[in-house]
Amino acid sequence: MRTKWEAKIAGTGHYVPEKVLTNSDLEKIVDTSDEWIRSMTGMVERRVASKDQASSDLAYEASIKAMEMAGVKGKDIGMVICGTVTPDHMFPTTACILQNKIGARGCPAFDMSAGCTGFIYGADIARQYVENGIADNILVVGVETLTKIINWKDRNTCVLFGDGAGAAIISRTQSTDISKIIDSEIMADGAFGDLLIMEAGGSRMPASEETVRENLHTIQMQGNKVFKHAVKSMALVCEKVLKRNNMDSHSIDWVVPHQANVRIIDSLAKRLKVDKDKVIINIEKYGNTSASTIPIAIDEAIRANKIRKGDIVLMTAFGAGLTYGAYLVRI
Ligand code: ACO
Repeated sequence: MRTKWEAKIAGTGHYVPEKVLTNSDLEKIVDTSDEWIRSMTGMVERRVASKDQASSDLAYEASIKAMEMAGVKGKDIGMVICGTVTPDHMFPTTACILQNKIGARGCPAFDMSAGCTGFIYGADIARQYVENGIADNILVVGVETLTKIINWKDRNTCVLFGDGAGAAIISRTQSTDISKIIDSEIMADGAFGDLLIMEAGGSRMPASEETVRENLHTIQMQGNKVFKHAVKSMALVCEKVLKRNNMDSHSIDWVVPHQANVRIIDSLAKRLKVDKDKVIINIEKYGNTSASTIPIAIDEAIRANKIRKGDIVLMTAFGAGLTYGAYLVRI
């Protein structure tokens, strides 16, 4: 479909809490080892939010940096989208809290619950609004404080997750600008929702003494089944988007995949026939920060001058739902 306007990523930012939790620290909490975590996941350490830090606090720090890079103020923001499964509260949304913190007024603000695909889902929607001429600048954030919903007695999950926030400003651009969002696609397969779930706290299973006792307000995951779906679904959506744009792996300068497991990333690179040197990986520093992994990784790479203006970047994620998506841009 031909659109009236073009959109681009005008700025990025990220923030991670100061507290570091290493694999060796985890050895003291559950029956695990640094060697197992490194070889099975690629993770070495992750960040943990302090007791008084909620998701909107992390999101604010990342957003301010992205707004500075894009040269926009709160009053210029036409929409706030917050990809998160760890909102400050069930309501109001974290996006509304963030809107107030950054000094944006009146614009729509909403959370996007798509698990680890939250940022890609949000960025896809932002693109549509900018391309249709409805908004000029949209703030999209991926933010999680997953360490607050972890069962610290479950070694299958507690070693995997960390806290952090990444943000991007999606802005209207001129057709003469080489930077632009080329294409994107978001998908879901609800039949596999049980593989990755926080069972209690919603209307199906309201909070009770029993749900707390049974640890049902924490992440439950069938890791090996999620693993298989992850590679298949990310490869499928990436190939779909590339094909639609007459592109292949040779057309891409960088792949920025969701950082859930280095073995998933390796398998995906192989499936896409992308050289590993072209894949941005920072999982060793932050673990899986869910919706935040992609905007954190892309911001780090841009600020390190690794990803440069004009580079073609393919982002892809999968997460609870199961959801998945791909986002193809020229930076
Ligand atoms: N330390 C030591 N041993 C462990 C640990 C640990 N932390 N965790 C599990 N094990 C053991 C298991 O108990 C099992 O032992 P057993 O053979 O004696 O029963 C053995 O390791 C193998 O367990 P599997 O779960 O079969 O191992 P697998 O190869 O699947 O790796 C892992 C586990 C790393 C979790 C992997 O499945 C994975 O990364 N899955 C994808 C998870 C993911 O991507 N989630 C992202 C979504 S997050 C979101 O959307 C919010």
